[in-house]
Amino acid sequence: MANIKSASEIEKMKISGNLASRVLEMIGAYVKPGISTAELDQICHDYIVNELKAIPSPLNYRGFPKSICTSINHQVCHGIPSNEKILKNGDIINIDITVCKNDFHGDTSKMFFIGEPSILAKRLCQVTRECMIKAIQLVKPGLHVGDIGAVIQEHALKNNFTVVKDYCGHGIGRNFHESPQILHYGIKNTGIILKEGMTFTIEPMINSGKEETKVLGDGWTVVTRDRSLSAQFEHTILVTKKGHEVLTIRNEENVSEFE
Ligand code: MF3
Ligand code: CO
Ligand code: CO
Repeated sequence: MANIKSASEIEKMKISGNLASRVLEMIGAYVKPGISTAELDQICHDYIVNELKAIPSPLNYRGFPKSICTSINHQVCHGIPSNEKILKNGDIINIDITVCKNDFHGDTSKMFFIGEPSILAKRLCQVTRECMIKAIQLVKPGLHVGDIGAVIQEHALKNNFTVVKDYCGHGIGRNFHESPQILHYGIKNTGIILKEGMTFTIEPMINSGKEETKVLGDGWTVVTRDRSLSAQFEHTILVTKKGHEVLTIRNEENVSEFE
């Protein structure tokens, strides 16, 4: 069946996932007031190409002009790094890294705080990470994909936040985006059934206000229609015989969080 990875493909996915996570670890030291998102992009680009000897997957992907996505405050995803976007105290930013190594992609993102964001902003980021973790904890062969969406939706709504429905997680491998689609909302016991050897992302986007989004005139940057805050976390996951493995785990994270 398509999109079940072989043992050798899984080895390559592990390498790509690890490299993507290392970029997120590396860039943290630079995410400070006064830096532009174009500078963050340049630092990541150089690190991916020169240190990791890998390819930044977003660059020229369907015309995307930069090597990473940087989405600040009310920006939901796919923000284009720019010299005009300067980080300031109180901002929250999602940095989304995808790298390709040995023809396989690894995709991961996290939120960073610039100085001291509002209590609401910090709570939104916390709850969004919890949504991702609760979903990852469920992953094992036999699970319906609808269970992933259901647990994310339940946790977000319980906290008076909303789930973005216009974008979803995705299978990943030789292609940046492949089947299956991983919706961040849904109904338990519905949808496809997970199988050992599948690799996909879980990347919930959660808003502090309404769920509706729109794309800006640059053709990429997605924002909340009501300009409320939005947060996102993303990991690339492998379905194993017993459960799952997080291929993009960082040193600051503990495997036990996902169990
Ligand atoms: N990394 C994003 C994701 O999680 C996709 C970015 S597409 C780009 O799927 F073209 F904007 F880079
Ligand atoms: Co993704
Ligand atoms: Co991503």
